[in-house]
Amino acid sequence: MVQKMNIEKVIALAKRTGIIFPSFEIYGGVSGFYDYGPIGKKIKEKIIQSWKKFFLDENIFEIETSLIMPQIVLKASGHVDSFVDPLTQCKKCKKFFRADQLIEEKLGVFVEGLSIEDLSKIIKENNLRCPECNGELSEVRLFNLMFKTQIGPLEKDVGYLRPETAQGIFLNFKNVYRAMRAKLPFGVAQIGKSFRNEISPRKWLIRLREFSQMEIEFFFNPKEKKFEKFEEVKDIEIPIYLAKEQEKKSEKIVKIKASEAVKKGIILNEYLAYFLAKEFVWIKSLGIPEEAIRFREIRKEELPHYSKQNFDLEIKFDFGWKEVVGNAYRGDHDLKAHSKFSKKDLTIFENEKILPHVVEPSFGIERLFYAILLYSYREGKDRGWEWLDLPEQLSPYDFAVFPLMKKDGLREKALEIFNFLKQKGFSVYFDDSGSIGKRYARMDEIGVKYCITIDYQTLEDNTVTIRDRNTREQKRIKIEDIEKI
Ligand code: GAP
Repeated sequence: MVQKMNIEKVIALAKRTGIIFPSFEIYGGVSGFYDYGPIGKKIKEKIIQSWKKFFLDENIFEIETSLIMPQIVLKASGHVDSFVDPLTQCKKCKKFFRADQLIEEKLGVFVEGLSIEDLSKIIKENNLRCPECNGELSEVRLFNLMFKTQIGPLEKDVGYLRPETAQGIFLNFKNVYRAMRAKLPFGVAQIGKSFRNEISPRKWLIRLREFSQMEIEFFFNPKEKKFEKFEEVKDIEIPIYLAKEQEKKSEKIVKIKASEAVKKGIILNEYLAYFLAKEFVWIKSLGIPEEAIRFREIRKEELPHYSKQNFDLEIKFDFGWKEVVGNAYRGDHDLKAHSKFSKKDLTIFENEKILPHVVEPSFGIERLFYAILLYSYREGKDRGWEWLDLPEQLSPYDFAVFPLMKKDGLREKALEIFNFLKQKGFSVYFDDSGSIGKRYARMDEIGVKYCITIDYQTLEDNTVTIRDRNTREQKRIKIEDIEKI
């Protein structure tokens, strides 16, 4: 069951407790930009750690590449010409809107992929007006989503902030292959910021102008149909929302074993199916209920310019289903295009000359973050304060340490335990202000799973109490046993 959700309460809690702040707030803010506060930064790091642990293996190498790219790179990838959204402007209040979204919201029809002429016609024929002031809307034109800049003092040297982390990976494909003595199939991963000048950023962390991605480009020989690691996941049943069901306006989901989906041609290859199955398991481990996850097969007319097949991992949010992970079978589009534009041979030789194909899982951290907060939020009427039921692996701190009192050596003892746990590699929070009840409440609000209290008995027998966030039960344990938890 998808729980009843109240995103306004989540947003307020996130701001109050240092999880997410609006950027540039004292200057009135700018839509599409948010900052991570101290607690949000910790949770984000935990998401990244968990992702790396789950997805990166001995054959997937992480790199970090430039955020600013010269024009030619993005000309080659197709972004300069094709990374566009349809834009319409209110002739009265001058506000901009994404034409396709406006139509979808007003008429409930799906229009992604239609030409600007068709979109203009739909707006006119249905007399769609500005949602803000009811003014007349302009003809639709295309708007490129990349942030343009210049590299160096000459205006002609155009650069862009990268719109995805993927391109830096393709450019380094051969470097990584050589440096790591890799063999196909292998992957290259990148985690970092991407930038898109969205026309109408909205829904808190859902559509941002600056956001974080975790992407893997997984390179394989297209003649090699069998992927050894697929064995590990072949029996996992994944929920797929087929294109044909979408066309019938049905909401039917098929749950199908990864191996069956490949056999029946629903998923084009084992490499793509491998990532879909893994994603399903990982997203569930973050506290997102199974019934709030589906893989939407992207219909032909919606496919991005580079893709042969796409499945969006969608999560059910308070406002409806939304893509959180894009999965694309990019074929050899990118390597081929970069070979052509750079005039460098990007083929490799493994018994024969190969230009590898690529499948790409692309995770957006902020959308995931939104979903995690949404599903972990508890109103906490029984305990008198709101709290986050975060999975233990995402707890912003592994432990919080409290001295019962600041006096009689309790504070010093608590600091000793705080330092002991830090040395052991745990992330630990120290709090000696306010009543113990208030301190527990503060930790519950940010989802810390375990609170340790140092009291007078600790001074006598080196035991502490440890409180579990969910059950609120306290147990007395020896200091040296804390790390076993
Ligand atoms: N390299 C492929 C790629 O970038 P995408 O579907 O455009 O694919 C991947 O983006 C993921 O990045 C999305 O599923 C989403 O989670 C996140 N994302 C994309 N645009 C975003 C935006 N404007 N704000 C927040 N997250 C975004």
